[in-house]
Amino acid sequence: MAHQAVDERAAELRAVIAEHNRRYHELDAPTVPDAEFDELVRELRAIEEEFPELVTPDSPTQTVGSRASVAFAPVVHRVPMMSLDNAFADAELHAWGERLQRRLDEGDGPVDVGYVCEPKIDGLAISIRYEGGRFVQAATRGDGRTGEDVTANIATLTDVPSELGPGAPDVLEIRGEVYMSLLAFAALNEAQVARELRPFVNPRNAAAGALRQKDASITASRELALWTYQLGEQEGGPTFATHHETLDFLRSLGFPVNPEIRSVESLEAVYAYCRERQAQRHDLPYEIDGVVVKVDDLAIRADLGSTSKAPRWAIAYKFPPEERTTKLLDILVSVGRTGRATPFAVLEPVFVGGVTVSRATLHNQDQVRAKDVRPGDTVIVRRAGDVIPEVLGAVLADRGARSRPWRFPTDCPVCGEMLVRPEGEADTRCVNLACPARAHGAIEHFASRGGMDIEGLGEQRVRQLRELGLVADLADIYRIDWDVLRPLDGWGDTSIANLQQAIEASKRQPLARLLVGLNIRHLGPAGAEALAAAFGHLDRILKADVDTLAAVDGVGPVIARALHEWLSAPAQRAMLERLRAAGVNLQGPEVVEVPQTLAGKTVVVTGGLEGFNREEVEAAIKLRGGKAPGSVSKKTTAVVVGESPGASKLHKARELGVPLIDEAAFVRLLDTGELP
Ligand code: IVH
Repeated sequence: MAHQAVDERAAELRAVIAEHNRRYHELDAPTVPDAEFDELVRELRAIEEEFPELVTPDSPTQTVGSRASVAFAPVVHRVPMMSLDNAFADAELHAWGERLQRRLDEGDGPVDVGYVCEPKIDGLAISIRYEGGRFVQAATRGDGRTGEDVTANIATLTDVPSELGPGAPDVLEIRGEVYMSLLAFAALNEAQVARELRPFVNPRNAAAGALRQKDASITASRELALWTYQLGEQEGGPTFATHHETLDFLRSLGFPVNPEIRSVESLEAVYAYCRERQAQRHDLPYEIDGVVVKVDDLAIRADLGSTSKAPRWAIAYKFPPEERTTKLLDILVSVGRTGRATPFAVLEPVFVGGVTVSRATLHNQDQVRAKDVRPGDTVIVRRAGDVIPEVLGAVLADRGARSRPWRFPTDCPVCGEMLVRPEGEADTRCVNLACPARAHGAIEHFASRGGMDIEGLGEQRVRQLRELGLVADLADIYRIDWDVLRPLDGWGDTSIANLQQAIEASKRQPLARLLVGLNIRHLGPAGAEALAAAFGHLDRILKADVDTLAAVDGVGPVIARALHEWLSAPAQRAMLERLRAAGVNLQGPEVVEVPQTLAGKTVVVTGGLEGFNREEVEAAIKLRGGKAPGSVSKKTTAVVVGESPGASKLHKARELGVPLIDEAAFVRLLDTGELP
């Protein structure tokens, strides 16, 4: 680049960075994720290193953060709150370690340096001041020299003691990070969405918003937490030789010190800690964005000193970013095999969380409305670990004046039928059983590994078979006209033979697999296994009522209702009959033949039993062919009397001469069908 161009670029970077700083520190409304901000700073720093004459005194590389906001009273930090230099890659961390080691070895020969490795908490730096053992003031970092007075807000944190107890130093400043746990963040955002307010993009922003409330009772309601990791000004009290001693001291005063902090002896151990923490970054109940590595020995720290911005004795090893901004090109709605209509974002491809992302979920109608993201917006995308990519929110500053909120479609984008959102549910659905999206998904699911496991019947073949009109529903899989396929590309004799064989083999799958494959809402593998074990045959499931189904351990009312509804629909019954006719197995793995000891008998239970709860009693009777109504009549075979029985049932039984039996006799009745 020509010198003038470089000069212009540096000026541009300075202005952009200053603006981002203002948004971050003063407005709590950052418009770029940290990683992108860091990249801008790095570019500016690289220019300034090459052309030192371009460094201006007000360059963001020479100052920390930005000026304190005017809304809160300024607090001058007597011990400045410095920032940290960053290492974005292993090589940069290694370079820092080696530089440090070289610098120390220059003196009287090799020096053994111990390090303390700490999770880098993604929150806000805070300084908390105690005088005479009493909490007197709390301030944000601000520009490192002057912060903002947030005493009233910090006083609401349960992690911050108001008094330090006897023997506390005359003056003590505690430095640490205020953060919001993932649990508190999720609860807060749920409440935001419920109140039709925009959800916070991440816990850090939520914590910043909570801290900078003029009304401290709002801060109190937001569950902020604290990790302490450093001392500021201190007068009186103990002196320390190492950092880990100061952490012990903080702990002894009752301050929260992160339990993941480790003292290590070598750079190798530092690197290992960083690797491990990065691999487990999502195992913690709060967000971390890296590891802070600190030299443990305080005398060595003093020797190393600081630059104008950051100490030489510490470095922040930053994890790869999981949030990025990109352009939202469109919002589409996909319809799944259960008819659920899920809005998703079509994005300008962006590299985030280790992969290139061009689609991200928007979950449901309420989420899109609350986040109010619109095609054309610049949006923040997150992909963390194995979690599917998600759009967190829009960068409002980039939005054009003519932009309008996006509206959820009223009709299914696939079949055109009206979408339905049942009262009280978050999901919108296409309820048209014939909707091609549903049918396609259902067939694919039936053939999938968790279902009937028909190898070779994947998405593309299902599509082809449907387009050819060979397979319209599940049962059609067992009557494919192979002659139609034979002349087509991709359908050689071998592939046809293989698929035929896989389809044939699927007929022998146990009942639980068939149940999973039927694609009944809420019914997963565990529920299907429980049903198969309890009933042993599809026909018995077909005969059972909702209560009997619900009484099965591991099933419950939600699955039972969905299952019963599904099985009651004439179209599904007809389809099951076609599966039966095709020779599909309808039995469980081990058919538990329950002897029908109570066939034709009616048993009423009153009062609590020891060995059964209400549902279990009913299920036990019904499983053996008996009836278990709620009231006594002359048809009642026996009344089982438990703890605190109902007076009217007892009275009625006596009146009608119905035998009264206890729990032991009931158990024998279940077994043998005989009364004592
Ligand atoms: S030490 C002079 N330790 O990271 C050293 N900072 O990028 C001051 N942070 O301003 C900081 N976890 O807000 C330190 N365990 C930790 C930290 C930590 C998070 C934040 C802190 C600091 C920023 C620097």
